[in-house]
Amino acid sequence: MALFGRKKLTIGLDVGSGLVKAVVIDHSGPVPELAKVVITPLNDTAIVEGEVMDHGIVADAIRQTIAATGAKTKNIVAAVGGRDVIVKKIQMERVKEQQARELMRWEAEQHVPFDMDSVELDFQVLDPDGDGLDMSVLLVAAKRDLVEAKQSLLTEAGASPAVIDVDAFALHNAFEANYPEALTGTIALLNIGNEATNLNILDEGVPILTRDLGVGTRRFREDLQRENGMSAEDAEDLLRGYDRHPMLDGVVSMRGEEIAIGMERAATFLSTSQRNFGTIRAVYACGGGARVPGLLPWLSDRLRIPVQPANALAKLAVREGAFEFLSTDEVAPLLMLPVGLALRAVA
Ligand SMILES: Nc1ncnc2c1ncn2[C@@H]1O[C@H](COP(=O)(O)OP(=O)(O)OP(=O)(O)O)[C@@H](O)[C@H]1O
Ligand SMILES: [Mg+2]
Repeated sequence: MALFGRKKLTIGLDVGSGLVKAVVIDHSGPVPELAKVVITPLNDTAIVEGEVMDHGIVADAIRQTIAATGAKTKNIVAAVGGRDVIVKKIQMERVKEQQARELMRWEAEQHVPFDMDSVELDFQVLDPDGDGLDMSVLLVAAKRDLVEAKQSLLTEAGASPAVIDVDAFALHNAFEANYPEALTGTIALLNIGNEATNLNILDEGVPILTRDLGVGTRRFREDLQRENGMSAEDAEDLLRGYDRHPMLDGVVSMRGEEIAIGMERAATFLSTSQRNFGTIRAVYACGGGARVPGLLPWLSDRLRIPVQPANALAKLAVREGAFEFLSTDEVAPLLMLPVGLALRAVA
């Protein structure tokens, strides 16, 4: 059976510490269509603090996930993120693209606290049609080790990536596709995962700050186990449930506070380092942690701004059967990153 035919497919592959996620998007029609979603769980020790502890297990999970998509394509897009990736909006003298490329290393030295010999740099001019003396540039610096480690893990899994993107851009990309009307003013995107929460602050649709906070559902699970003597499975059931069980109150406020403080610090940093930085007017949350009953309303009360769930499928066409036996409502919040990766059509 030719499920996909000779079509332009992209696989977005998100290797999370809790779940390996692959999303196949078909780019051959008038609009991108989500054709398949596959999710494979990892055990708690395979990836810890962003580091792959067990290459064999993770590579197997990746291999299985890609195979289960059934998509015969080499267009795999993966991403790197975390502490070793820096995204920064800078101002520099307005020059042509080629010259900007030559100046970038020098510019990066002023803005990035990494050794320039060990980083990969990329950039995007944000106002290419502007006519001022300066231009705004989004600079990305990723430690080369990190990019190479990702490449070799995927190669070991038989899934050599065609492109390595940056988490923050992929999240932004998926968000932009699904919530174009929300890109005015300053907003925060929170991707609350299993062990990390990616915070992206966007100003008029441009990512101006990206940070990782060390909070995720793994912490919630451990807290519930310790405080209530529950099994990991029972704790997980509460976190994935639909009702706000009273046993969740303590962890929601404790871990919620950590997220709130992380956001406040980021906002303070921006108000001291960026001219004209306003306030964050709303938060959009995704990732498995965004499903924790009561967490988003708690954050909204605490931060005094709307905090709403962001759905990676809000505006995306979905092919029938793409989710097979997965519950679309339950997994949709987890797909922002892989959808953002798969939306990138690879030539
Ligand atoms: N339907 C679901 N299926 C699986 N896990 C779910 C579901 N709903 C919520 N979760 C929770 O979400 C977590 C996974 O979320 P997510 O996929 O965003 O994290 P991750 O990308 O694996 O982690 P990280 O980015 O921190 O490395 C699981 O560990 C689980 O606690
Ligand atoms: Mg994740």
